[in-house]
Amino acid sequence: MSDFPEIEKTLASIEASPQVLQVLRDLHTQALSEIPFLGGIGPTTGALDKFVALDPDKCALVYLLLRSTQARFVVEAGTSFGLSTIYLALAVGQNAALKGSDGRVIATENESVKAARARQHWKAAGDEVEKCIELREGDLRETLKSDLPDQVDFLLLDIWTPLALPTLTLVHPRMKIGAMVVADNVSAAEGYKDLLSYLDDPANGFKMTTAPYSGGLLIAVYVGKKVA
Ligand SMILES: C[S@@+](CC[C@H](N)C(=O)[O-])C[C@H]1O[C@@H](n2cnc3c(N)ncnc32)[C@H](O)[C@@H]1O
Repeated sequence: MSDFPEIEKTLASIEASPQVLQVLRDLHTQALSEIPFLGGIGPTTGALDKFVALDPDKCALVYLLLRSTQARFVVEAGTSFGLSTIYLALAVGQNAALKGSDGRVIATENESVKAARARQHWKAAGDEVEKCIELREGDLRETLKSDLPDQVDFLLLDIWTPLALPTLTLVHPRMKIGAMVVADNVSAAEGYKDLLSYLDDPANGFKMTTAPYSGGLLIAVYVGKKVA
């Protein structure tokens, strides 16, 4: 058991082996115990030792959204130590198993120290998680330029805000109708203006709402372009 009730509540909302649950419990505990990084998420964050992770309740929501939409191809912008990635990989692996098909999480991290820690955490979680993750190291504006799956079902934006729209524009052409974009901290972070105007423009085919999680969690669905 963890000292943080929100962690146990989140773990109760997901399907995972005791091994994965323990890794998640440990990582969330470390993340919630870290001194908040006040510099924001920058191009070079200066926070190489920090998780800057998605809150447990947001991880639970993301996992459940992925399960409900049966998402199998996911892109994560901003992986850090790989905590949120574990939720994505669990859901994708479970969805793929139900369909008797494959699935993949494309994780992205430009700090090699962080990428190495993420790999350790996924190894500790085991094959249930590790087998579904492809980590692309380097600047995601380059690493996501090619070799995306034909279909992307879900994009998690947990990244320096000026990178949110460039990421979406790389991934959008692969989104099928019903695909989702979730972006963290949209009410708190100034820099999301471009992303919000893009999502709001009917020409781009999205509908969105902001769920009242800490800092605001944007949930957008690609509904496709209106047929006149
Ligand atoms: C908020 S953290 C991600 C936290 C993670 N989603 C979680 O919940 O555990 C954002 C990460 O994006 C990385 N990042 C920043 N700029 C990047 C870029 N251009 N390409 C890839 N990763 C980048 C940072 O190094 C940082 O680790």
